[in-house]
Amino acid sequence: MDLQAELSLLAEADARAAQYLKSINVRPAFPSQQSIKNLDALVGALPQSPSDPKQTLALLDEYGGPATVASNGPNYFGFVIGASLPVAAAAERLAASWDQCASSHVNSPAMAAIEKTAGTWLLDVLDLPKQSGVGFGTSATACGLSCLAIARTGLLERLGWDLSAKGLTGAPEIRVVVPVSVHITIKKALRLLGFGMDRIVYAPVDQNGRVIPDQLPPLNDRTILCLQAGEVNTGEFDPFTNIIPVAKAAGAWVHIDGAFGLWARASRNYNHLTNGVELADSWTTDGHKWLNTPYDSAVAICRDKTLMAKTLNADAVYAQGEEDAQKNLTLEFSRRARGLSFWAALHSLGRDGVEELVDRYCNLATRLAAGCREIGVPVHNRVVLNQVLCALDNEEKTKSFVSAVQASGKVWFGPTVWRGKAAFRLSVSSWKTTEDHIDGLIEEFVRFL
Ligand SMILES: Cc1ncc(COP(=O)(O)O)c(C=O)c1O
Repeated sequence: MDLQAELSLLAEADARAAQYLKSINVRPAFPSQQSIKNLDALVGALPQSPSDPKQTLALLDEYGGPATVASNGPNYFGFVIGASLPVAAAAERLAASWDQCASSHVNSPAMAAIEKTAGTWLLDVLDLPKQSGVGFGTSATACGLSCLAIARTGLLERLGWDLSAKGLTGAPEIRVVVPVSVHITIKKALRLLGFGMDRIVYAPVDQNGRVIPDQLPPLNDRTILCLQAGEVNTGEFDPFTNIIPVAKAAGAWVHIDGAFGLWARASRNYNHLTNGVELADSWTTDGHKWLNTPYDSAVAICRDKTLMAKTLNADAVYAQGEEDAQKNLTLEFSRRARGLSFWAALHSLGRDGVEELVDRYCNLATRLAAGCREIGVPVHNRVVLNQVLCALDNEEKTKSFVSAVQASGKVWFGPTVWRGKAAFRLSVSSWKTTEDHIDGLIEEFVRFL
């Protein structure tokens, strides 16, 4: 393919992308059964011979596009998934043409500088310890896994055990304490790291899903304690000021899963919810949730940057990197610069814009909760953040209501289980969602009640 053909292909992709975006506000929030069936056009056997790249692109657009979920629009309220900020999406488009391997300075000086700056800005806007290491990974899952691996290495190091050299056989056992309401991905990370699900210790939580300080299991210098900034159903925060100092005094490592809730720190109206979270040892959060960067972008933050870089080190004789090279702060070796969309979003929004985004989601969630109550849909959480948790008065009604609204295709949100009963979860996390969309969601509810 010559340069002319390459440019023409990219121009066509852009034109198709523009068509898609033009229709995003009126696309079904979830694709029709027919569109899903039409995906058959994409899923046959591996072609033997090459195709015209324009044909490949056309197939994707014509059959893939209609079967997409309109989560890049304003009417999607599922899974804390938001539309992508245009500046972050555009920056990624530009970066795709650069195609940088962002492992270290020597691989890409531009990406190294941009991600380093994104890290500094992130610590600033989230008001976390300035000396922390910041690794941009794929997801809160992967970044959580990194942080938990660092936590274990760090605790064992303090106990005089070199995990990198000696491995786990014969090592002092590290216990993990998590809230009963812990997110499934923390459990996945712990399982992969070999902690053993049967050995996890659960901390009881209150009716809001928050750890109860008085009932915290015993902690010591062989304990990793995971807490949450933003419980997945209620959006609530563990009482950090009551717990973290006690855990630290006992010698425990405290990790915070702040996949979406950590962003409350960026707002003067909501940062009180996170008081004390800065005392932890490590934190994870996503860009692709509240900051609305495109998938996949997340971050692992560790107070002890040296320990982080030592645990995740991937220097080779042919690929040496500085301590804060991203390949030494993340799971990946070859990688794209996931910090770039953070950089673009933070540069464009500035501190005020991030605060406004956080406030807007929370205000819209408050409006949504009020609307639900007005039409007789019971709200089961305090709505301290962007999550509204609802359930009708019996489980069957709740389930069929969720299915009926989902099937209408106008809006989408997901079911959940809360305190053993069927419920549903509405997340306001898209910069495109306005008061009108919230009112439209309530109108949809009325149609199906
Ligand atoms: C509280 C919480 N923790 C962790 C995760 C996992 O994040 P990710 O999907 O980026 O791996 C999520 C959401 O999916 C979440 O809501």
